[in-house]
Parts: sequence; structure tokens; C-alpha cells
Amino acid sequence: MTEDQARQQITSLTGKINHYNYKYYNENISEISDFEFDKMLEELIKLEDEFPALRLPDSPTLRVGGTINKSFQTVAHKHPMLSLGNTYSRADLEEFDQRVAKGLGTNDYEYFCELKFDGVALSMTYRNGLLVQGVTRGDGTQGDEITANVKTIRTLPLRVDLPELPDEFEVRGEAFIPKKVFLELNKSREEAGEETYANARNTASGTLKMQDSAMVARRKLDCYIYSYLSRTSPGTHEKGIHMLEKAGFNVSPTHKKCKGIEEVLQYIDYWETRRFDLPAETDGIVIKVNNTDQQQELGFTAKSPRWAIAYKYQAESALTQLKSITFQLGRTGAVTPVAELEPVFLAGTTVKRASLHNANEIKRLDLRPGDYVYIEKGGEIIPKVTAVELSKRPANSQPLDYIRQCPECGTLLERKENEVIHYCPNKKGCPSQIKGRIAHFIHRKAMDIDSLGEQTIRLLYENGLLKDPSDLYALRYEDIIQLEGFKDLSSNNLLQGIENSKSRPFKNVLFALGIRYVGQTVAEKLTAHFQSVDSLAAATFDELIAVPEIGERIAQSIKDYFTDPENEREIDKLREFGLCFVEDQKKLTGGNDTLKGKTFVISGVFNNYSRDELKEVIKQYGGKVVSSISSRLDYLIAGDKMGPAKKEKAISLEVEIITEDEFDNLLK
Ligand code: IVH
Repeated sequence: MTEDQARQQITSLTGKINHYNYKYYNENISEISDFEFDKMLEELIKLEDEFPALRLPDSPTLRVGGTINKSFQTVAHKHPMLSLGNTYSRADLEEFDQRVAKGLGTNDYEYFCELKFDGVALSMTYRNGLLVQGVTRGDGTQGDEITANVKTIRTLPLRVDLPELPDEFEVRGEAFIPKKVFLELNKSREEAGEETYANARNTASGTLKMQDSAMVARRKLDCYIYSYLSRTSPGTHEKGIHMLEKAGFNVSPTHKKCKGIEEVLQYIDYWETRRFDLPAETDGIVIKVNNTDQQQELGFTAKSPRWAIAYKYQAESALTQLKSITFQLGRTGAVTPVAELEPVFLAGTTVKRASLHNANEIKRLDLRPGDYVYIEKGGEIIPKVTAVELSKRPANSQPLDYIRQCPECGTLLERKENEVIHYCPNKKGCPSQIKGRIAHFIHRKAMDIDSLGEQTIRLLYENGLLKDPSDLYALRYEDIIQLEGFKDLSSNNLLQGIENSKSRPFKNVLFALGIRYVGQTVAEKLTAHFQSVDSLAAATFDELIAVPEIGERIAQSIKDYFTDPENEREIDKLREFGLCFVEDQKKLTGGNDTLKGKTFVISGVFNNYSRDELKEVIKQYGGKVVSSISSRLDYLIAGDKMGPAKKEKAISLEVEIITEDEFDNLLK
């Protein structure tokens, strides 16, 4: 390809992909299949690799990151990023309103109300339509320049094209991790045996300061824009907001213009509980005088504008009695204390338990059984104990003695240097850890043995049939049929599920082993890099930390795991049973005409294949991948999270829908 052709193709792909991205992230519309989209993006990545100088400043490949920031430059804000005066009281708002009326010498003004999003304030500068700079608030006068990280925020336009917009302008907004993404993030950290994050705001803030923008991209940050700043003002805040909406910025649709303070109070009431259903966490509302001339007239105090104020919702809290403190044991042996509470209704749900994190937290709160405690929903997600009501403390109460022994097996607990968590060191003998490890091993994202559940694991363990994951593969029909509740069909089902799991790829197997800190993503990185368990086991500490995203903590944990001879023996056994300990090339190198003349649509996410692998396998077996569903299509291969519209269409056109396991069977 000549340079000119490449330029043309890069420009065309960049425009198209940005358009589809915008539709997808800002309007929730998929205009093309994921497969076609991935193909276009792949082509663009390839072209940009080949012709780096031709990469456009609004290239969608910037969204996936890749820039490593050694340190962040400090830059001064053109206009200071002030904070807002805030209040929890309605009476204060009436006073604010009187101050505004007095300051303006008239009652002729309007307010513009918005929700106050609880995230990280950012400032973005656009020049000639392009996003050229992203900066944190910092101390208000200067902040960190984090442009590469900011560009990974999918809803933030890299290029805008609206005639009303001047050559240069600034927008400000609040970056956040959507609640749903935050919960998923914590879930996968838990699965990897990592400590979970306490709240979404601090996590978002930490994420934006990460050095590797590819890591930032994976955190799926979003950003609501709430301010427009330029040399000439549009006249009202409302007009600025409408212009931002028109230009494609992600403005939360929750704003409202209010005639007077009465309407503002109604707005506050309206959002008091509805705000819990929004994707971002909120802690109040912001009230702004709408007219920008009037804003100027009112001016600023040293810290904040006189034309705006924040009203904060009282964090909903409830008082209830602490019945007892119990201790939960994870598969890694980590002990988590849990507050067992007298059930109490709080912000939409009944709360019975709250995590106390660790011994230090109990000490800090001086928590004693029988105490009355205040609980709040931390970031409106996880309930937490915030304080003890000392006036209600029973007279004879005693400080709590933190447990010294494992609640499951009685072994003396240990606490590593610089760690706050207690661990049960009895890895091999503690029933809870044994069952926890197996539950992790069979997890959907690991070996995906869905014919096994926690009940059956318990049953097998109690009958002496199951101690290590490898014991699963030695189970026989005769063993299972004699278990309580098992019949012929269920026994065979269980065995079949275990048998099927042998085809899981190496990355799933590695994750399934449950090495501390080796979650799904890390497992994927390691398998791609080392290709086999033998080279991973032989890697030195330095070789491990040389892999992108593998830090010292993970490297040490891997070294510890492979120096334990029992782990080595377990891997040998699993290998003998036929589990995959090498990056699986065999599916890709085989191939024949089995699928000749057959057409496939791929939709969703798969356990054993990436979409590209699946595509490649179909090709190698003589089949063809197409992008749209028609009555001539032979198969729709359905993965997780397949769009319901596709499914419906396939059903209505009587196209056969198959799972990936069924697809594997076609190849046989
Ligand atoms: S306007 C002069 N609007 O709240 C200050 N701020 O204490 C103009 N925030 O640092 C800020 N949602 O990070 C504004 N709709 C909203 C907001 C909002 C959240 C944050 C922002 C700012 C802090 C002010």
C-alpha cells in the first residue's frame, strides 16, 4: 500500500470507528456487529503500526491506551478550578437565594440545577476541534496533565465539529467509575484474592493517575461534563450546556432550569431517592445562577463563586444493634470480620450485615458486641459501620478480643508484615480453604464446571472424595451414585461436566489454580507471554516483572506458588488428566473440510476462544464467517452477553443457535 492509500484508509477508518463508538457509548446503539467493528479496528491498528506518522489525533486507538506516563507535568489552569460552598440545610438555600437577590438587586433571575456527581474533577481543552489537553483539578490553580489517560474515556469526544464552537474552549466535568463497573471490578479482585476497593471515587482518582494508559482504559471510566468555558460566553449556563450536548459531550440529562428557589427545592426532593438509580454516584445537587452576566455581577469569594452552591444530601444512615461479629474465611485463608446486625432498612434495602474489613477497623471504631452502631451505605453500595453510639453502650461491655485461631480449623492465625489482614496458614488442611479453592477452580470464568455447585463440593469433601482440584478428574460413577440425592442422570451429568472442562484453554486453567493475585487478566497476560506452565514455573523474578502489568507482588506470589512441591505435584496430576498447560495452538493448526459451505455469525463473548480464534478455526475448517443474520445463515454461535435482538432475529428466521461446546462438537 502506498502512503497516500494508507492515509486515505486511515482517515476513513478513523471517521467510521469514531462514529460507531459515539453511537455505541453515547446513544447505546450498535450500528454494526462487534465482529465488523473489531475487524475495522484491527485494520486501523495495523495501518497505524505500519505508518505511525499518519495516526490522526482523534484516532480511536487512543481509547485503548498504550502511552506510559513516567511522571505527570504540572500545568496551570487558565481559569482557577474553584470549589463550591456547600450546605445540608434547606434554610441555608433560602438564605443563599436572598443573597443572590440582594446582590443582583432584582428578583429577575433563574437557576440551573444539576446533580453533584461524586468523582474526580477534570478540565479538558479543545483546540481547532481536537481534544488537546486533560488536566486534574490539583490545588485549583494547577493540576496534573493526564491527557493520554483522559483520552481513554470513551464518551469524551476526541474531535468535535460544531460551527458554534470557537477555535479554543475548555470543558469541565466529573470523571467516575460507573457503579456497575465498580462492582464488577471488585468482584474480579475478590476472585483473584486481592483486597477490594473501598469506594468508587478514590478508585477513579487513583486510576486517572496510573502511569500506563492501557490500564486506565480497562477501568472503563466515564465523565459527565457540566461546564463550558470560552472567551465569549453563550449568555446563559443553559445555552452552554445545550451546545455541549449538541457537540456530543456526555451531559447528564438530569439537569433542570428552575424559576425560583421553590422549584429548586422540588428538584432536590425529586432526586433524593431517584439518584440511586443513576450510573454514577451522587452526593447532592449544584445550584447555579443561569445568566452569565449575573454570575459575573455576583462574582467570587476567595474560594468559591457567589452565584452557585451545592446542597448535599444527608448520607443516609441508620442506628441499629450489633448482634455479633463473625469471621469469614476466603479461599486464600484471609479472615474478614463481619458485623451481624439487627436488620434495619436503609436507602432502599434491608441491611443485616456489614463488612468490618480487618482487626484495625474494629479497634478504630472500638466496636463491642451489643453496641448500637450507625451504618451508612458507603458510596451507596456497600453498607459500612461508621460509628458507635456510646450513650447506648451496655454498662458491662468489654473491648473485643480479635480471634487468634481460625474459626474453621482452629489453627493459630498469622499476620504478615505490613499487612492488616489475618490469615489462616493451614492451607492444606483447613476445610473452608479447601472447599473455597475448589469453588474457585470450577467457577464459570475458570474451568466452568456448572454441573458442580457448592452443595456438591461439600458433599464430596465430607465423603472424603475431594481435597484437591485434581481429585475431581479421578471421580468415578460408583463414587457419585452413592451420594445423597444423586441418581443415574445427575451422576452422569456431573461426570460429563468435569470431562468437558478438560478442553478449557491454558489461561482458564492458570486462573483456576487460584494463585494469589493472579486474576483473569493477569492469567491471560502470563499465558500469552510464557506460552506454557513449564516456562512460567521456570521464570525468574526479574523475568516475571519484565512482563507488562506484572508487579513485584504478583511476581513474588507466582514464585512462592511454584516453589511449593505440593503445587508442582498437583499440576502434574492435572496435566496427566489432560488439562491444558500450554497456549493452545492445536485448534489453530489443524483443520479440514468439516465446515465446508457452512456460514456462521459469531455473537457475544466466549470461554475457550477469543473472537479472532473462533473466526480462524471456522476458516481452517472450511467455513465462512458473515456479519449479519439472514435466513440463509447456517449457525449463530452464541456466547455470553449476546444481544437479545440478534437472538430474536435468529429465532424468527429459524437459524440454528449453538453454544461454543456445540460448535466444538461440529468439528469432531
Ligand atoms: S460546577 C465553581 N457542577 O463538585 C465550581 N461541579 O465543590 C464549579 N461537581 O470540584 C463546579 N458535579 O468536581 C459543578 N454538576 C456539577 C458538579 C460539580 C460535581 C464537583 C466538581 C467540583 C466540586 C465543587
